Amino acid sequence: MSGRGQFITFEGGEGSGKSTQIARLAEALRGRGLDVVVTREPGGSPAAEILRSILLGGHAKMDGPLAEAALFAAARADHLASVIRPALEAGSIVLCDRFADSTRVYQGVAGGIDTATLEQIEAAAIGPTWPDLTLVLDINEKTRTERRSARTGESASDRFEDEDGAFHAAIAQGFRDLARREPQRIHLIDAGGSMEVVSERIEAEILALIEPAA
Ligand code: TYD
Repeated sequence: MSGRGQFITFEGGEGSGKSTQIARLAEALRGRGLDVVVTREPGGSPAAEILRSILLGGHAKMDGPLAEAALFAAARADHLASVIRPALEAGSIVLCDRFADSTRVYQGVAGGIDTATLEQIEAAAIGPTWPDLTLVLDINEKTRTERRSARTGESASDRFEDEDGAFHAAIAQGFRDLARREPQRIHLIDAGGSMEVVSERIEAEILALIEPAA
């Protein structure tokens, strides 16, 4: 549930092209005169960005996935309070790169934290501000490894990118399972095609949400 705006989150494994696609979508929506706020997790607000550097730097890895889940949730609570809710209340479309479904998959499915525990953490951190729509950019393992080797040398890898292929396959499957369990909110997008084709798929989903009668 959200205020007057629309809260849209993007999920997927590494190499799914989320950030490129979010930037393209934001430009397309702004071109239609819409007010768009682009943000990301972990981070998106000053306090949450500090937690981001702790988490992606691997400094909380030794404390285990439960501690990491709690830190991701703490960052999320601050991000919601200082950026997301105010933007929704102002009527903006909020495009957020990752949100709570990442915790469910990375710390839950891959990290082994049980659903009941994660639901308690979610309830405390998120309250009623769940996304109106979540798009999972889905790619297979072959595409992920191809995209990753094409990117080698561009930027240093982080705590999660360093995990092995089995980890990334489990992540992709975890998101597919979430989409099956919550088909109304979570839609799977085939992100294996060209950038333009994937953008068209995403725009069609978003326009169906914001202009349902069109
Ligand atoms: P980021 O650099 O934003 O990369 P990506 O392009 O993959 O989104 O890295 C965020 C990393 O943090 C990513 O590997 C997923 C992980 N993560 C979690 O494990 N739990 C979470 O709740 C969130 C939001 C992210």
